[in-house]
Amino acid sequence: MDLSSFPRLNLVPSPTPLEELPRFAKAISSKPRIFIKRDDATTVGLGGNKVRKLDFAMAEAVQGEADVIITTAGVQSNHCRQTLAIARRLGMDCHLVLTGDEPPVRQGNLLIFTIMGANLHFIGSKDSPKDAMESIAAKLRQRGYRPHVIPIGASTPIGALGYVESTREAVIQAKALGVGFQHAFITCGSAGTQAGVEVGARTFDRPMTVSGISVLYDAETQKSAVSDITNGTFELLGMDQQISPGDITVYDQYYGGVYGVPTTAGNDAIRLLARTEGIVTDPVYTGKALSGMIDLLQSGAYDDAEAVLFFHTGGVPAIFAMAEHFQE
Ligand SMILES: Cc1ncc(COP(=O)(O)O)c(C=O)c1O
Repeated sequence: MDLSSFPRLNLVPSPTPLEELPRFAKAISSKPRIFIKRDDATTVGLGGNKVRKLDFAMAEAVQGEADVIITTAGVQSNHCRQTLAIARRLGMDCHLVLTGDEPPVRQGNLLIFTIMGANLHFIGSKDSPKDAMESIAAKLRQRGYRPHVIPIGASTPIGALGYVESTREAVIQAKALGVGFQHAFITCGSAGTQAGVEVGARTFDRPMTVSGISVLYDAETQKSAVSDITNGTFELLGMDQQISPGDITVYDQYYGGVYGVPTTAGNDAIRLLARTEGIVTDPVYTGKALSGMIDLLQSGAYDDAEAVLFFHTGGVPAIFAMAEHFQE
């Protein structure tokens, strides 16, 4: 597969590291070896999975000669941080529509938005972020600007190409180490990241299966979202392949039923990885996904696998706004 025909910014310092987690694997009595893809180390704007997705999605904005970017997500959004950072790297202004209220003190990602000088629009929890973005875009157009709207999470087939690429990298890195992954674990939020991994897993290393750990919605909703974006990505790539939601695996029992609210198991998983390997994850996304991976590995479901892959998709800056969950 050739991604070179798609415009991209080439901002990802690739390949990101692939590291083995021997002490963590021993601590959870894992039979398979466990490897982590360090996509928290994509560097731009403190890194994370969105840099990979935006590497393609923001290239479209450049092609369209945009001069201002508008996007949306929660007040502690990693997606907004990385979109804003890339906009700044491209010399563009940036408006962030934040679904929530302004807190009394700016911490975590919100502090970074402030340092990078974004235009912030706090819309509470009732208004439609899509309408808010359209109204800001219309006002900017009237003033002679060329705004470009990036949808939440950049979870489109174009954005998913970033994770086709990350999966390709991980498989090549593993081969160089003489390892083959039989399974991959990935956090599933707005679903574009898992969709990219699904395409990559089917393209580059057929025997590798994929489990999404939802942090946002129930499994059925997530399977449909992943399968829609996966099929869109196959189409974009000119591949004559289609899947259905039944072909996708998503677990929804590890996020506590509420987006953004930490779980005890997630926070325990964060501490365990930090104390065995010196790697920090976050309480909203990757910590919950880690807790799911631990439970699934301990259930024995992957005992036959030689090695499994965990994607570290970043998100750590949000932890600084959640310090109360980690006091001892
Ligand atoms: C740190 C982190 N991991 C994983 C995800 C999930 O990615 P996606 O929204 O593509 O499912 C996000 C989304 O914001 C994220 O910030």
